[in-house]
Amino acid sequence: MSTRPFIVAIDGPAGAGKSSVSKLLARRMGFALVDTGAIYRCVALMATREGVALDDDKALESLLGRVRIHFQVVGEENHVFLDGKDVSSDIRTPEISMAASRVSGRPVVRAGLLQLQRRLALEAGKGAILEGRDIGTVVFPDADAKFFLEANPEVRARRRYEELFQKGVESTLEEVLADQMKRDKDDSARAVAPLKAAEDALRVDSSSSPLSEVVHSLEAEIVRRMGAR
Ligand code: DC
Repeated sequence: MSTRPFIVAIDGPAGAGKSSVSKLLARRMGFALVDTGAIYRCVALMATREGVALDDDKALESLLGRVRIHFQVVGEENHVFLDGKDVSSDIRTPEISMAASRVSGRPVVRAGLLQLQRRLALEAGKGAILEGRDIGTVVFPDADAKFFLEANPEVRARRRYEELFQKGVESTLEEVLADQMKRDKDDSARAVAPLKAAEDALRVDSSSSPLSEVVHSLEAEIVRRMGAR
């Protein structure tokens, strides 16, 4: 029997439901949750605050050496802390979303964050759920279960818009859709670790399924694979 935590990879584009599904799954299974998008967002936040250009690889590399991130469940939410400070809201603005997409295209940033993502998962007890874009392809190609969540672009934009609205961030549905299309294009077209499903990932379309249904089907698959491990 393996002593490594059970590793679950959940990849997919923005707004496909990864965060909600991952959060519920982690809670139901008693697994740690590593939101890798939040890690890229923290790097973008640091760069923006420090006035570092998002294509300045040298400056980004030195900044990466100072990234101190941890996750902690606060109430119902998985909060992210940068240097001990809760930055969960600061990293969700439209400005930081675009900046995160840009820094995530820099090979130096992707390489610099690889060990951190793996360590956060391997430190988990029973299991870890990692949500992102390249978990099943790059971060954990040998993950115990891999899922690729999808949904049509309008559904995804509407979800993101509702989420921002609830957080008090001013935007319009059109702006969210336009931002999302640009980010999807950049994330899929970049040379390093582009957004794509691993060949052995289970593809799940959440466009018309209720969240509970998606969570149940992923959970059933995870339990089945844990039994077979
Ligand atoms: O999932 P998110 O929207 O919080 O991610 C923010 C950005 O980070 C997004 O543009 C894609 C990028 N990202 C990535 O390139 N690889 C990951 N594993 C996670 C996120």
